[in-house]
Amino acid sequence: MNFQFILFTVSALASQTLGLDNGLARTPPMGWLSWERFRCRTDCKMYPNSCINEKLYMDMADRLSEDGYLRAGYKYVNIDDCWATLQRDPKTLRLVPDPVRFPSGLKKLADYVHSKGLKLGIYGDMGTKTCGGYPGSKFTMELDAQTFAEWGIDSFKMDGCYSTTKDFSVAYPIMEFFLNKTGRPILFSCSWPAYMQSSDPDYKLIAKHCNIWRNYNDITDSWDSVKTIIKYYGDDKYNFSAVAGPGNFNDPDMIIVGNTGLSYQQWQVQMAMWAMMAAPLFLSEDLRTITPEARTLIQNPGVIAINQDRLGIMGKRVWQSGNIEAWIRPVTPVGSYAVAVLNLNDGGAQSGFNMTLVTLGVKGQDAYNLSEVFSGKALGKYTVSTNFPIFIDTNSVLLLKYTKLDRILKW
Ligand SMILES: *[C@@H]1O[C@H](CO)[C@@H](O)[C@H](O)[C@H]1NC(C)=O
Ligand SMILES: *[C@@H]1O[C@H](CO)[C@@H](O)[C@H](O)[C@H]1NC(C)=O
Ligand SMILES: *[C@@H]1O[C@H](CO)[C@@H](O)[C@H](O)[C@H]1NC(C)=O
Ligand SMILES: *[C@@H]1O[C@H](CO)[C@@H](O)[C@H](O)[C@H]1NC(C)=O
Repeated sequence: MNFQFILFTVSALASQTLGLDNGLARTPPMGWLSWERFRCRTDCKMYPNSCINEKLYMDMADRLSEDGYLRAGYKYVNIDDCWATLQRDPKTLRLVPDPVRFPSGLKKLADYVHSKGLKLGIYGDMGTKTCGGYPGSKFTMELDAQTFAEWGIDSFKMDGCYSTTKDFSVAYPIMEFFLNKTGRPILFSCSWPAYMQSSDPDYKLIAKHCNIWRNYNDITDSWDSVKTIIKYYGDDKYNFSAVAGPGNFNDPDMIIVGNTGLSYQQWQVQMAMWAMMAAPLFLSEDLRTITPEARTLIQNPGVIAINQDRLGIMGKRVWQSGNIEAWIRPVTPVGSYAVAVLNLNDGGAQSGFNMTLVTLGVKGQDAYNLSEVFSGKALGKYTVSTNFPIFIDTNSVLLLKYTKLDRILKW
């Protein structure tokens, strides 16, 4: 064992004893979420196939279960904002799904989703309104938690609009308490630190009450957006990597692979880096029209295995040279590593250089099988100091896995 690994392990163990433990999100949750692609579109006359209605979520449930996603691990179908009526029920004060867009009601939708072996997630807000102006949960947290449980909801994302960040450390724990009291396991996704980027969020407290938490700006379908998220997670200001572990994960936002904003290489960068960051994988694209190429990438077993590694340790950026950087993440079997080398140059030809695990802070006598993760190609046996020649194109990633071998190699 080397210093770096001990450091990683200690932080993972710390979060295991301190974080929310409701049995959920032992590895980063995977599924689908409507927001990036479908936003708050409510005009179903003009856009019958892309408005927020029950058909959209049923269609995605069909695609997840029939097109290989569920088998690959994607099981949450998550509703985002704009599903409710603008007023609560005047008598019961309960949230009401829009009767025109969700005519069957959410219990029926949950039954449908469950019949496919999937889980249903929903969205709300801790303030007086959601970001889209729908009713918030500020004065109705217990009732809303009960309502969600009665409908058969499996995950709840609580946003932070129409509120003040001062209330967060009180309101999020209260909602967690009421979700727990329903007796139904409901994954709790908090937007807490996303609103506190310049004020040192209390990540230990966040992990104590949330399974996942949106950290940093919402993703948009652009390379700039993906790059700034990777930079924020690489900078790791306030050491938020330290609180990630089974049950508790930083959420850098949705997967946009299959949409129109990125090249294939940039799609690979997103998949690779979300695996390195132990990030939830919530797809936000139209699975009815996605290309086979994007689908295959989203379901790549090697990348998913790194993302879902049971140690749950978040990778860190440990090396930078100009616009080229390397990240490392300890994975199983214990003593193994995933390594991502990113070329963020915007112009020029391929860059070539040698890299070793020593460069990335790993010491010791272990030997490893090296493989390229996207293709699964075996690259041979390596020690910590064996040079690995890297040739990497601009706007691209090389994702490697160093699998520890049982015995020290005799050379
Ligand atoms: C409620 O909290 C307790 C204590 O952390 C935990 O053991 C239990 O699994 C939780 N139940 C639910 C339904 O979240
Ligand atoms: C983060 O951790 C590093 C050491 O790993 C330490 O030097 C630094 O002070 C920590 N920063 C914060 C904000 O806790
Ligand atoms: C990389 O290392 C090999 C030997 O392991 C050496 O032949 C080669 O010149 C090195 N390349 C660079 C760019 O340093
Ligand atoms: C290492 O790679 C060799 C050759 O590909 C393979 O036969 C062996 O099973 C691998 N060992 C481990 C522990 O992955």
